[in-house]
Amino acid sequence: MKNIILTADRPTGNLHIGHFVGSLRERVRMQNETEYDDLFVMIADAQALTDNADNPQKIRDNVMEVMLDYLAVGLDPQKTTFCLQSEITALPEITLYYMNLVSLPRLLRNPTVKTEIGMRGFDKNTGVPVGFACYPISQAADITAFKANLIPVGEDQEPMLEQTREIVRAFNRIYKTDILVECKAMLGRNKESMRLPGTDGNAKMSKSIGNCIYLCDEPDVIKKKVNSIATAPRKLEEPGDVENSVLFTYLRAFCEDKHFEMFYPEYANLKELEAAYAKGGLGDGKVKKFLFDVLNDVLTPIRERRKEMSKHIPEILEILKKGTQKANQVADNTLHEIKRAMGIDYYSDNSFAEEQIKKYSNK
Ligand code: TRP
Repeated sequence: MKNIILTADRPTGNLHIGHFVGSLRERVRMQNETEYDDLFVMIADAQALTDNADNPQKIRDNVMEVMLDYLAVGLDPQKTTFCLQSEITALPEITLYYMNLVSLPRLLRNPTVKTEIGMRGFDKNTGVPVGFACYPISQAADITAFKANLIPVGEDQEPMLEQTREIVRAFNRIYKTDILVECKAMLGRNKESMRLPGTDGNAKMSKSIGNCIYLCDEPDVIKKKVNSIATAPRKLEEPGDVENSVLFTYLRAFCEDKHFEMFYPEYANLKELEAAYAKGGLGDGKVKKFLFDVLNDVLTPIRERRKEMSKHIPEILEILKKGTQKANQVADNTLHEIKRAMGIDYYSDNSFAEEQIKKYSNK
């Protein structure tokens, strides 16, 4: 079987450290270390419009921002195909046929859609846009159009992949085919990486909540944000709670042994620091200082590469355009197979015409 990797992000703003540990870092690792036949990274602008219909300019403005974030973290145009969702014309058509395979209650039961509806605060009078409720179906089209089987995403996307697998099974069963491929999530390094909380302690780091550290943040901004992280009040000598501390959650997602050597030689690794904190006597100020050093060490090369990349906009535009052309070819092929399996590829050859002529000539 082929290994096709695909993932996507909505261009609604800059990518942040939650995206980085949840998915970007895994994509770069897979790009450089695993065997695969194709790796697609899609800018999901059409999906972004499902809750930004009144603000397309915001989406347009963020396409290049997201491309710069991608290149800055080390995604390499030689190895990765970048593409723009709304320009891949087969996707909405595939979505249309999948819509018949999903029931309305099943859609609205999707836990990610449910939480997002709660967070978005859609207009009370008009309610949830149909396009928004259906985005898991269009996401299934994104994935299956490329026959992707490996999807590096954050844990919150698992319900989307489950829905995709259900559509794949329904399609293959009903149309007696095996053209569609089941996908699985490639999750981050550890449980903290899969769902990084916001700097305010909220369960999810999200631009709409305003609790993000962005990949392009300057050191002084990172420092301010790290210092603003709320910690449980306690006396210095009292035991600290490592499990529920946002500071330690970030450290578990980011720090490596080398960071101790570089910035905190009193401890050899995170286990030792955690033990000291749990015992008591280690203040949050010191942990914050270390966390800042670690984040800054990880983010500085990304920030610098991003600045460098922003001097090459024409080349980046070309990379996205070429990638989108390639993606269109792949998705068109799959659409063709889908229509054939459904028996609605009327004009791809003469068989429909011949069949009809024969049928009526016998009457
Ligand atoms: N829903 C994803 C997100 O919000 C973005 C996305 C769109 C996606 N299409 C996809 C992710 C296909 C993986 C595969 O982050």
